[in-house]
Amino acid sequence: MECDTKTRKNSSLCNGQRLIISTALSSTADKTSFAYISARDRWPIIITGAIDDVHRAVSETTDEDKREEGKRIVEELAKLKYELQHDRKLSPLPEDGQPDIAGYNKELEQLGTPSWFDVPWLYAECYLYRRVATSFSLSSQWKSYDVFGRQKMSTFRSSRPAVLELANRYHELISQMGKKSDKSEEEVNTAEKILFMEMCEICLWGNATDLSLLTSLTYEDIQKLQGSEARKASEKNIIVNDLEKAYDVLKKAKKDGKKDRQVDIVLDNAGFELYVDLILAGFLLSAGLATNIILHPKSIPWFVSDVVPADFAALLNALASPQAFYSTPSDDEKNAGTTPEPLSQKEIDELSFLFQNWSGFHAEGQLMLRSNRFWTEGGSFWRLPTAAPRLHEDLKESELVIFKGDLNYRKLTGDGMWDPTTPFTKAIGPLGPGSGVNVLALRTCKADVVVGLKEGEDEKLRAMEEGGGDSGARKWAWSGKWAVVSFSPGK
Ligand code: F6P
Ligand code: MG
Repeated sequence: MECDTKTRKNSSLCNGQRLIISTALSSTADKTSFAYISARDRWPIIITGAIDDVHRAVSETTDEDKREEGKRIVEELAKLKYELQHDRKLSPLPEDGQPDIAGYNKELEQLGTPSWFDVPWLYAECYLYRRVATSFSLSSQWKSYDVFGRQKMSTFRSSRPAVLELANRYHELISQMGKKSDKSEEEVNTAEKILFMEMCEICLWGNATDLSLLTSLTYEDIQKLQGSEARKASEKNIIVNDLEKAYDVLKKAKKDGKKDRQVDIVLDNAGFELYVDLILAGFLLSAGLATNIILHPKSIPWFVSDVVPADFAALLNALASPQAFYSTPSDDEKNAGTTPEPLSQKEIDELSFLFQNWSGFHAEGQLMLRSNRFWTEGGSFWRLPTAAPRLHEDLKESELVIFKGDLNYRKLTGDGMWDPTTPFTKAIGPLGPGSGVNVLALRTCKADVVVGLKEGEDEKLRAMEEGGGDSGARKWAWSGKWAVVSFSPGK
């Protein structure tokens, strides 16, 4: 079915089949959207960062071939930046041997070869990172180079206090769970539910909300946690909260005595966010709320901080020799002539416990990574059943598929400019009820699209300081300060 230009902008194409997303797509031409700012202000900065990183890597190598290729990559990135800043048409991606290139170029044609400042935001942003990746994949010396790798590791290193705090609490928590509990069934269930919520909130915000009270599973402490100020504060900014529904799905599967209970986590960012994803995964396995966890990383460097398999290995390596990792001065520390405080023996032991615990699950096959190129294609997850039927079947095996972060949420909802009161189950289209997939989105808002809100909620948030007011811009949703935790029952 041929679509007119307007419909084309609202349609999500796959294998010739059009899935009509019944709302306009977020566009870089929309002056009120974060797309407009991203294309004009943020993307040039990101490309400049990549250029600087390659320059630095070139200066650090003596291999002549690698230097020459690095200079060519810098030129290609500079060309991309020039085209972007001068609102040029997006050019077809060069073949690099991967099957997704054809899909990107077919969509580019379907969109009428648009220019950077008037193109669906989701496609253009995915295209940007896929095009950067071709500069490396088409090289010989830089094929596996991660142009964002340097900053991913340095942000993890700089999260040292929160890493140590969580390691301490996790160690105590898992050790407590191992002990015979003298509590009633009801007390243990209540504690487990509260801990699930706390762990998900830590995973959502990528920080330790209120771990001070996690030192023991005593009923009183857990109740204190439920009512604690920090918890109330962090929950205040979760404007849609379906965590209980997600917990009930896992609890029911456990109660029904299902032998294999898989949970999938479609990952977002590396570093501390991957660390808290593993804390959640380890908790789910230790609490028996899941029997195996599948982690879905990206296959190429993506949206600056997203997880590629090498980031998982680097995190486990850091935990395997924590003293070496945390005592090596970072580049900034080297420049400042300072050396980091060495870890105490207790801190080393607690990080080593994490390493043993997680690598143990990994060795047993209870925690595994499963890459799929679908996650770095240019379209929304509305296409998943038709574009990646095998992946769809795999996700149906799961009790719960957790999608982390803002980009995954945009892809779930087609990055559509929905009425914010649109039900989440409607906005995720083919992955909604009847899809066979139980979806949980853990999303800190960093883009315009938001659904599932109560009447008046969006207006209330817009009216707040920096909320966007009556400018038409939903600025409150750009800051990462607000979050939605949305569940769709697919089974
Ligand atoms: O907020 C800008 C942005 O690049 C969005 O375009 C994108 O969805 C988001 O950041 C990525 O954030 P996250 O890592 O949470 O998916
Ligand atoms: Mg990300």
